[in-house]
Amino acid sequence: MSVLPEAPLQVRQHSQQLVEVLRDRIRQQGAISFAEYMQSALYEPGLGYYASGLPVFGVDGDFVTAPGLGELYGRCLAAQCDEVITALENNGCDRAGTAEPCLIEFGAGNGSLARVLLEQISLSRAARNQPHPHYHIIETSGSLRQLQEAELASLPPDIRGSVQWHDSLPQSLSGVVIANEVLDAMPVERLRWQQQELQQLQVVFDSERNCLRASYITLQNVEATPLWLAQLERILATLPEPLPDGYCFEFNAYLSGWLAAIGEMLSSGAVLLADYGYPRREFFLPERDQGTLMCYYRHHSHDDPFHLPGAQDITAHVDFTSVAEAAVDAGFNLNGYTSQSAFLQANGLLQIAEQLSQQSAGGNDGRSQLDSLRLMQEVKTLCLPGSMGDRFQVMGLTKGIDLVMQGFTELDLSHRL
Ligand SMILES: C[S@@+](CC[C@H](N)C(=O)[O-])C[C@H]1O[C@@H](n2cnc3c(N)ncnc32)[C@H](O)[C@@H]1O
Repeated sequence: MSVLPEAPLQVRQHSQQLVEVLRDRIRQQGAISFAEYMQSALYEPGLGYYASGLPVFGVDGDFVTAPGLGELYGRCLAAQCDEVITALENNGCDRAGTAEPCLIEFGAGNGSLARVLLEQISLSRAARNQPHPHYHIIETSGSLRQLQEAELASLPPDIRGSVQWHDSLPQSLSGVVIANEVLDAMPVERLRWQQQELQQLQVVFDSERNCLRASYITLQNVEATPLWLAQLERILATLPEPLPDGYCFEFNAYLSGWLAAIGEMLSSGAVLLADYGYPRREFFLPERDQGTLMCYYRHHSHDDPFHLPGAQDITAHVDFTSVAEAAVDAGFNLNGYTSQSAFLQANGLLQIAEQLSQQSAGGNDGRSQLDSLRLMQEVKTLCLPGSMGDRFQVMGLTKGIDLVMQGFTELDLSHRL
């Protein structure tokens, strides 16, 4: 944790507008759950963090994701997607015969992953006289869509023309679904196990202090029993030990519906989910007794979700065991689960880095040395333990294809789920 930088006036005013929307909503409907608060803080049209047009990614924003580090991550993912697309084509693609295999990306950020994936897959397919795949982006934020359009403008017109944006899921596609750091950005409930009861964090508006405030309420006292309660109780029943008194954690009630919708959309193909998280047993370790919720403002991490609502990122780690269970319920097979480092290396990370380094060494000047250093730094950030290498995990799901994805052939940690 660190001291947070002072926010400029415009950012504070923007945040205050969202607080007023929330205040009015809370006045009308009473307290809201933490998940409703997080949904609004991140996605409220025009005001939520991802919908506001404020800088989010990179040095001018609040955080950097793997695709924002450089091209290595996208190039490795392209190798993995190419393998799946080829397998689908060899399989006769979609048995229903509805479509050629395509790529579908959820929450495409600043568009850099889409650009690298399209460049690389188009190149390798052109070398085999095959057409480039269509690319579907599921993006609810108008301002992020504009960023993505600008990033993809450098692609050749025919490839750029194959990109389609959607604000909800398209129907019946075959191909590869990619969700990089999407699960951690889904609204979560915050819960506490206290005196043999489950309590839910609720958000109210404190009129005296003119600010949002949160407190726990016993779930039995909530007006309507949440639909997800039975599902959560099943999860807790699988833990090797009961939770200690006062233990706080998060629960993603959207997860199973989201995977079920992807299962409906995808007639055959694969899903790649990359995020920070743990298998359930590690998610519920005693030392995580305050949960995993984190906030990011200007590259500073902290744990106050009520700091500048709508102007900072709020995230929670992923319980990958729940992801695997929901995926199986949605008709997927678990293809593999591994660290980001192992996944990228099994998809040729070191060879790709070496190739790029040799290409830039051709110049033999100061710039090429800088390029090589930058590549080395990128490999380290993506792979080293303590950096993204083991904090981030990749899960692969498949449906209607018989293939062990190459990304899981070096190290498969599915047995830990
Ligand atoms: C941390 S950002 C990651 C952006 C990008 N994938 C990257 O890696 O740079 C999380 C993104 O997930 C998106 N997101 C969260 N839930 C989503 C959903 N159900 N459908 C589509 N996008 C979603 C958010 O809008 C946001 O753009």
